[in-house]
Amino acid sequence: MLKWSEDYILNQPEIDHEHQSLFKLLNDFYQGLADGSSKEKLASLIKGLLDYAKVHFSNEEVYMKSINFPALEKHQQEHRAFITKASEFYEKYSSGKMLLSIEVTNFIKDWITNHIKTEDKQYARHAGL
Ligand SMILES: [Fe+2]
Ligand SMILES: [Fe+2]
Repeated sequence: MLKWSEDYILNQPEIDHEHQSLFKLLNDFYQGLADGSSKEKLASLIKGLLDYAKVHFSNEEVYMKSINFPALEKHQQEHRAFITKASEFYEKYSSGKMLLSIEVTNFIKDWITNHIKTEDKQYARHAGL
């Protein structure tokens, strides 16, 4: 389970809220794994997380534009790379071509937590939050 902490707070209320929602969706997925949920159920939990991440990234990109964040382009690329990789996992898993592994679940968790703590914090700093 992933624990929310002050380290993730950017002081931008809408975005902080969305990040907490991402944590919640990730924890729902972990709970599903722990409960031994069906493949269909786990696939739909991953899909929910992925869909929410897309919405969050696009909201965040609008915000970065609004504050004229200079590294927007690079940040967008990071978002896109994550969506590409996570979508690939989702497709392979839901079509039965791949089993869920610790590597896959850790990739998602590590990417999200590191991204907030390093990349997202940069635009917060730029905005003077
Ligand atoms: Fe974010
Ligand atoms: Fe981001």
